[in-house]
Amino acid sequence: MTQELTSPSPARQAPGPGRGPGWWRDAVIYQVYVRSFADSDGDGIGDLQGVRSRLPYLKELGVDAVWLTPFYASPQADGGYDVADYRAVDPLFGRLQDADELIRAAHETGLRVIVDIVPNHTSDQHPWFQDPELARQRYIFRPGKGDSGQLPPNDWESIFGGPAWTRTGRGDWYLHLFAPEQPDLDWENPDVHAEFTAILRFWLDLGVDGFRIDVAHGMVKAAGLPDIGHGRQATLIGSQHLPFFDQDGVHAIHRAWRTLLDGYDGARIGVAEAWAPTPERLALYVRPDELHQAFNFQFLGTGWRADGLREVIDASLAATASVGAPTTWVLSNHDVVRHTTRLGGGLARARAATLLMLALPGSAYLYQGEELGLPEVTDLPDEVRQDPAFFRGAASAGPAPDGTADAGGQDGMRDGCRVPLPWAGDRPPYGFGPGGSWLPQPADWGALSVAAQTGDPDSTLELYRTALALRRTLPGLGDGPMNWRPAPDGVLTFARPGVLCTVNTLPDPVEIPLPGRPLLSSAPVATEDGSALLPGDSCTWWAI
Ligand code: NOJ
Repeated sequence: MTQELTSPSPARQAPGPGRGPGWWRDAVIYQVYVRSFADSDGDGIGDLQGVRSRLPYLKELGVDAVWLTPFYASPQADGGYDVADYRAVDPLFGRLQDADELIRAAHETGLRVIVDIVPNHTSDQHPWFQDPELARQRYIFRPGKGDSGQLPPNDWESIFGGPAWTRTGRGDWYLHLFAPEQPDLDWENPDVHAEFTAILRFWLDLGVDGFRIDVAHGMVKAAGLPDIGHGRQATLIGSQHLPFFDQDGVHAIHRAWRTLLDGYDGARIGVAEAWAPTPERLALYVRPDELHQAFNFQFLGTGWRADGLREVIDASLAATASVGAPTTWVLSNHDVVRHTTRLGGGLARARAATLLMLALPGSAYLYQGEELGLPEVTDLPDEVRQDPAFFRGAASAGPAPDGTADAGGQDGMRDGCRVPLPWAGDRPPYGFGPGGSWLPQPADWGALSVAAQTGDPDSTLELYRTALALRRTLPGLGDGPMNWRPAPDGVLTFARPGVLCTVNTLPDPVEIPLPGRPLLSSAPVATEDGSALLPGDSCTWWAI
């Protein structure tokens, strides 16, 4: 994967030595939450020029691609996941020309670019929704129940809390699986298909290398929109088949999009943000004629227990192997509590989890700031919060597929993982930009800044840099086989070609026979007399 790439079709390069075809199969993809990455103009909000200015940092970090969260024209009712114009850049983030220049500059740097596409819903400010006649053709409107239609058409709840329906001045109701400002499109209408085909083409023509598809499991609803009827919906997501998620009909859309992607040069990819009740159902999204990857939220949702981790790793690998797709791994994103906090073991455990993830076969997603070991910010005052889930009182149980985060954060809401990055200096905004930052940064983040960690061999940033460099140079990491090896309780040991990975999930050190030559460890590992002492909450890579 060490390739010098040139614009506009970097994916035409041959795969690196020992790698399977298809750059995405073992790519490390870095999620840029644009609003919080780097601010070029001093308004306290990250923007596209800010991202561009930091491309050398991402190149040096050693990632293969960036995924940019939505930067399209939007009233920002849900951090840009409420799009009013899919072909325009929101002035908060820059201009279309900035997007064009960013894509080109990334390619020149050797980084691929994936953009977010939001097809389940638009903003209520989208011209289609603003026109009452068009809206009733292209969104999901229904009459209410009750004598005068005063009750919602069914019992579905919004992922952000409250009913999934809002009544209009005309007396009918429209569906919004998320906020009321995010009406769900009706994918039974061919106009919707045609419009998204055109939108995908627009960005592909600009040179993007793929799409992260928001709510890829939600675009098709069960015929007749049946009630769920029992239980609290928030507790059913992920464990049960719900009438608005993971319906078989979504696959036809993804197949059509795959054909579209394949019509372009280079290997342009589709990544499903999909939540399915089982790894087997999730694997359906990455069948050979569908999308290239799907996020592995079951891995993300697994706690720091050896047996649970082993189980989810095996299930994930088996499910994707059954369709010939690579597995993906992810520990943090903009919707969940950062893993430094979520896993409950602070930085030591977070560093260990990261090395575990980066040693597994397949592709890994990093969320900006995890390379700095940033914790969740758990003391944001209510008046600065912006997450619509906070205002609608979403449930906070478990890392949900969309929206709500889990315990360990601030009531399970999502602002605490979106605080702007510290780049340098002792005081906010820590080099985030020439102005302030849209969410307040903690007073002690100076020590976590990029500048403070650069060159310090014990820092988390240098751990990530070394791990990613090793991943590029060791042919056994990335795509390829893995085999579990016997290990004491609480320890996971698995072999990749030429590399062995040991993970001690226990809080105390564990002694094991020396497995090989230490290559990299999340914590200092002592070796003597043919044995190794694995520190508590640690992961070590060994040359074998
Ligand atoms: C998933 C996105 O990651 C999340 O941030 C957003 O709120 C929902 N989809 C709705 O678009």
